[in-house]
Amino acid sequence: MKRLVSGIQPSGNLTLGNYLGAIKQFIALQEELSETEFFIFIADLHAITVSQDKTALRKNIRSLAALYLACGLDPKKVHLFIQSEVIEHNQLGYIMESTVYVPELERMTQYKDKKLKQQAGIRSNLLTYPALMAADILLYDADIVPVGEDQKQHLELTRNLAERFNQQHGDTFIVPEPFTPKVGGKIMSLTDPTKKMSKSDDNQKAVVYLLDDLNQIKNKIKSAVTDSDTKIRYNVKDKPGISNLLTIYSLISGLKIPELEQMYENSNYATFKSDLAEKLAEYLRPIQERYHALLASPELDTVLDEGRDAAKRVAYKKIMKVYKRLGLGRIK
Ligand code: AMP
Ligand code: TRP
Repeated sequence: MKRLVSGIQPSGNLTLGNYLGAIKQFIALQEELSETEFFIFIADLHAITVSQDKTALRKNIRSLAALYLACGLDPKKVHLFIQSEVIEHNQLGYIMESTVYVPELERMTQYKDKKLKQQAGIRSNLLTYPALMAADILLYDADIVPVGEDQKQHLELTRNLAERFNQQHGDTFIVPEPFTPKVGGKIMSLTDPTKKMSKSDDNQKAVVYLLDDLNQIKNKIKSAVTDSDTKIRYNVKDKPGISNLLTIYSLISGLKIPELEQMYENSNYATFKSDLAEKLAEYLRPIQERYHALLASPELDTVLDEGRDAAKRVAYKKIMKVYKRLGLGRIK
């Protein structure tokens, strides 16, 4: 049976970009790939590359788990778990640190970007983060790893590390394939559509959070930055704002972009934005309702317990195999 692995950091509220670029793919794939075992986790260890408030982190982990399920992840098909509850991630992460070379880590775009923001000092795990991410994937012999564009470089490194380890120590890991959605791989900021929509944007108007008040969401869409032309046409280079809104509209409605262009041929931006605002609010309403119900129910812990146990069964076997390959401990 094939395996699919992916994770999201519990580093704050999830955005529409996270949803369209990642979660929505997991949900579509869970229907499409019936012969595949899914491991989806909350990457809490990855969150501590920056300082975290204990109460906020705990809340974010639980919130993310509930949100995954509210968005439609089916616990009968998916093992949903918390990364730090499966100790083998740390164990293999350390082994991956001994497989990767420092310049390979220093070359990572995300490291180069994030290190500029860490004024109070760069934590060493900001650099070694891709080693842990490689471990997250290789522990489960994942064939498919759905991620947004920004994670492709880390996945490429994971593939190199799997090949290197296999070459040095004998066949141990499956070399995983990245999987990026054709549309939605990069949802852009509403205030600067040349920039990615990011959780950590200082401007609240730039980002739609999945748990935002619905009226607030409508207002954000209505005030999204667009160009001075009046035509509703998809053209990323000349009309990045409208193109981004068309992408969002297409993904939540199932209508193709040319169909939308035709529908709005004789409309102005205000009508188009107002329609999208309503559609998006109606799309997110049931997700928010399920989220609040789940957060207060014991079902959430049952799902996370099952997920952890299933993940551990696979991960433990793998780490024992790796230790044996390396000659660690007393395993023969
Ligand atoms: P992050 O929020 O950076 O932890 O990302 C979690 C997942 O969402 C990853 O697979 C990202 O690639 C994806 N993602 C984050 N922001 C966006 C965006 N603006 N558009 C599409 N996918 C995104
Ligand atoms: N690094 C990813 C991000 O920030 C999250 C992540 C951690 C992940 N481990 C993973 C994604 C393994 C896919 C597979 O978005």
